[in-house]
Amino acid sequence: MLVLGIESSCDETAAALVNSNKEILANVVSSQLKHKDYGGVVPEVAARAHLNVMPYILQQALREAKVTLKDVTAIAATVGPGLYGSLLVGATTAKSLAFALNKPFIAINHLEAHILTPRLFQNIPFPYLALLISGGHSQFISIEGIQNYKILGTTLDDALGEAFDKTARLLGFPYPGGKNLEELAKTGTAGQFYFKPPLLHAKNCNFSFSGLKTAVSQKISELELLGKLTIENKANIAKAFETAILASLKAKTSIAIKKFKLEKESFNHFIVSGGVAANKSIRLMLQALVEENKGSFYAPPIALCGDNAAMVAWAGVEKLKLGITSPLNTKTKPNLSLEEII
Ligand code: KG4
Ligand code: ZN
Repeated sequence: MLVLGIESSCDETAAALVNSNKEILANVVSSQLKHKDYGGVVPEVAARAHLNVMPYILQQALREAKVTLKDVTAIAATVGPGLYGSLLVGATTAKSLAFALNKPFIAINHLEAHILTPRLFQNIPFPYLALLISGGHSQFISIEGIQNYKILGTTLDDALGEAFDKTARLLGFPYPGGKNLEELAKTGTAGQFYFKPPLLHAKNCNFSFSGLKTAVSQKISELELLGKLTIENKANIAKAFETAILASLKAKTSIAIKKFKLEKESFNHFIVSGGVAANKSIRLMLQALVEENKGSFYAPPIALCGDNAAMVAWAGVEKLKLGITSPLNTKTKPNLSLEEII
């Protein structure tokens, strides 16, 4: 069973070939750099860029995998959530190929692709608890099976990746600045600044990051006025931001584990995924917390935390194994939720 996966929900155009033996035969990702000048993704620009590069990305993936379209069992593509025009490019490409080749089309939820990725690398049985932290989402999910996802907690405002990107921008980094902020925090000294970890004492596992971003913004303006926004202080701010994020994630993950345990009567497996899961401090903190709770911790390899098509192809393999395919008139849905069946 060999699935061609296509991803184009935001600013990455990607194609990958993954088989049911968990082999990634090709994984091609083209990131659009055009958005750096605007400080965020411009939807119309993104859609046009997907259209321009998609044929070449597909050709490259097939070449790298040393297969032809005839060898492919099915074609999977992200149909939501994401930017409308961007989603249309990938989904329409996949449907057209499926129609022309008379092969099944498999509609994939971008978020389900992120949270199933760890199963491509390790045997993780259902149910398991997932923390999805990306540029658009921050959620705890109880994964009970394929297409059976229950949201336990979510962000009330900004996503974690968004908080990283906005804070990084305030500190002078181009979009997306999450990785730059992580690097900068490594050079900072702890305790020089303090930002209150958000929603620390609420008894649920929802997040909120916009207040933290505002507090960082105010501190930066204050230091700028005083002429004290030095490289050292920028690094100290990044460190304090990271400290607040780690405290918030730790508290919320503890609550999510308790909630999961209560509902499922045991807690054994925890995964973190999405772009922000590439952050080493976050991975280490979560791993320690999960092990304290006698669970096993999993995360995708760093290179597969961010958007890619191997995760889409793998979600396609998971569905195809269960006989799940999608009609060619499946709609793309920019605000698709994990709990919706597509
Ligand atoms: O999953 P992803 O590629 O796209 C979405 O589905 O949103 O996540 C992208 C997000 C961006 O906000 C980016 O800044 C963040 O992941 N990110 C990081 C790191 N690497 C990427 N945030 C913190 N630390 C990192 N090392
Ligand atoms: Zn993503």
